[in-house]
Amino acid sequence: MAVTLSKPRLSSTFLFLCTLLCFSIALVVSAKSDGFSNIISPAKLGLKREKLTHLHFYFHDIVSGRNPTAVRVADAAMTNKSQTGFGAVVMVDDPLTVAPERNSKLVGKAQGIYASAAQEEVGLLMVMNFAFMEGKYNGSSLSLLGRNTVFSTVREMPIVGGSGLFRFARGYAQAKTHIFDIKSGDAVVEYNVYVFHY
Ligand SMILES: *[C@@H]1O[C@H](CO)[C@@H](O)[C@H](O)[C@H]1NC(C)=O
Ligand SMILES: *[C@@H]1O[C@H](CO)[C@@H](O)[C@H](O)[C@H]1NC(C)=O
Repeated sequence: MAVTLSKPRLSSTFLFLCTLLCFSIALVVSAKSDGFSNIISPAKLGLKREKLTHLHFYFHDIVSGRNPTAVRVADAAMTNKSQTGFGAVVMVDDPLTVAPERNSKLVGKAQGIYASAAQEEVGLLMVMNFAFMEGKYNGSSLSLLGRNTVFSTVREMPIVGGSGLFRFARGYAQAKTHIFDIKSGDAVVEYNVYVFHY
C-alpha cells in the first residue's frame, strides 16, 4: 500500500519541478529582446500613479435645421421600413458642453458614428471619440465603443482607451437623455464618464 501511494507522489513532485523549470526558461526567453519588442518599466514613460477622473458634460445631437451635427451617411433598402431604423449609419460631430444649454461653454466634440444595430428595440452601436478642447484636456481624447438603447433611462458604455492625458484610459460612460424633441429628432444627452488613467 505504502509503495503504491508513494509512486504517484514522486511523479507529481517531478512534474511540478519540470513545470517550474519550463516556466523559468520561458521567463528568461521572453525577457530577451526579439528585435521589435521588449519589456520596459512604466517609469520610462513617466507613468506614476493611476488616477480616477469623473467628467460631466452634455452631448448635443442636432439632426434638424441648416447646420446639423449628425448626418445619416448610409442605410439599407429595408431601413425605412424598419421600426428601429435598422441599418442606418449616422456620422456625428456633436458639441459637448458644460451645461444643457447649447450656448454654454464648449469642452469638446463627440466625433464618430452611431448606427442602428438592433431590430427589436432601438439599440445603437456607438463608435466615437470624445475630442476635448478645454483646459488641461485640450488635445486629449477618450474612445467609446458600446451599445446605446436610447429609450432606456441610463445607458452604460465602455471607454476603451484614450490619448494625451488619457493614455491607457479605461472606464465607462453613463448617458441619460436630458431632452429629446420628438418633432425635430434633436437630443441633449447628459454624460457622466469615469476613467482610470495616469
Ligand atoms: C429613406 O428615407 C430617407 C429620408 O426620408 C431618404 O433620404 C432615403 O433615401 C431613404 N432610403 C431608402 C433606401 O429608401
Ligand atoms: C486648444 O488647443 C488648440 C491647439 O493647440 C488651440 O488652438 C486652442 O486655442 C486651444 N483651446 C483652448 C480653449 O485652450
